[in-house]
Amino acid sequence: MVDRSGTPLVELRDISIAFGGVKAVDHVSVDLYPGEVVGLLGHNGAGKSTLIKCLSGAYKQDSGEIFVNGERAEINNPRDARRYNIETIYQTLALADNLDAASNLFLGRELTTPLGFVDDAAMEAETRRIMGRLNPNFRKFGAPVAALSGGQRQSVAISRAVYFNARILIMDEPTAALGVQETKMVSDLIQELKRQGIGIFLIDHDIHQVMAMCDRASVMKNGELVGTVNVANVTEDDILGMIILGKMPQAA
Ligand SMILES: Nc1ncnc2c1ncn2[C@@H]1O[C@H](COP(=O)(O)OP(=O)(O)O)[C@@H](O)[C@H]1O
Ligand SMILES: [Mg+2]
Repeated sequence: MVDRSGTPLVELRDISIAFGGVKAVDHVSVDLYPGEVVGLLGHNGAGKSTLIKCLSGAYKQDSGEIFVNGERAEINNPRDARRYNIETIYQTLALADNLDAASNLFLGRELTTPLGFVDDAAMEAETRRIMGRLNPNFRKFGAPVAALSGGQRQSVAISRAVYFNARILIMDEPTAALGVQETKMVSDLIQELKRQGIGIFLIDHDIHQVMAMCDRASVMKNGELVGTVNVANVTEDDILGMIILGKMPQAA
């Protein structure tokens, strides 16, 4: 059970953003607690990605505020987001295909020896340590990531984020391109991240997936928040009703 008695890891409060005349996100508030996965659901164009891009620093909201650990956060670009330990796992994973897992984990942030040389041994050891925790079955340490499966690539990208202290992860459709086995791998990975107290915003159009992986689900429609529910208290049909009709389920 997620403890929601303390301060949320993140609070997006009354966020609005418009493009031209289109209100992509219209006064939306959502929050996220340590060790929690909150699913964002809604039709294409509902505003899910735009909302979450205000947190990742890709967009700046027109109005509304973001709080991280209870403190007002000024997020104007992805670098600001990273300072608040917010990391995004993109659908098109930002990995260098020709490099192995360790090189990808430390890309641009290489470990060096006291004399300033790139320390390949240290990077491989660290990669084995963190991958061992997140994806214990991973063996292909020497292979270029182009040779890895979708789920394995995902675990490299997530390891990279976690190694660099991500406390808040944003995942936009992480299992969209994956098969059953691979989806299970990512789902296990998410469970491990939860155990470490990391909070995750998970955008997904698959209600079944969201019910299986998330603690709460926030549904958006036409830029507005329909509502947030505890997935243990609702059925898939309830959530479908929220997505399609924009209505909260009748109190059970
Ligand atoms: N950069 C942009 N410029 C103009 N319109 C955009 C931009 N990004 C998103 N939108 C619009 O904002 C609305 C919400 O889109 P989006 O957040 O991508 O929805 P979702 O992720 O739920 O599918 C849509 O109408 C979309 O066309
Ligand atoms: Mg989207």
